Amino acid sequence: MTYIITENCIKCKYTDCVEVCPVDCFHEGPNFLVINPEECIDCSLCEPECPINAIISDEDVTDDNRHFLEINERLSKKWPILTEIKAAPKDAKEWENKADKLSLLEE
Ligand code: SF4
Ligand code: F3S
Repeated sequence: MTYIITENCIKCKYTDCVEVCPVDCFHEGPNFLVINPEECIDCSLCEPECPINAIISDEDVTDDNRHFLEINERLSKKWPILTEIKAAPKDAKEWENKADKLSLLEE
């Protein structure tokens, strides 16, 4: 089991989630975060921290967000670890709950 970050985080990146993780398995890209599924211990602490519900358990994936399993696994190998909260993008609010943000993901 692991938790993963899904589409709603793209261009919002609030980073509230990173501070509670006991094993520091969040990785930061230009406009998105991912969780390393090999390090995540399924403690669930991060899930309620995200103000826009972008974090889910892999037990709750659906056909609509299944591709984020691969995205979290692949990009966590590439991006650096983030452990401290930082300022969100200035326009983060405007991107909350917008559909079809995947094409905007910067790898
Ligand atoms: Fe970290 Fe726990 Fe969230 Fe996994 S479920 S990413 S271990 S806080
Ligand atoms: Fe993204 Fe939510 Fe964390 S927007 S950075 S998953 S707090």
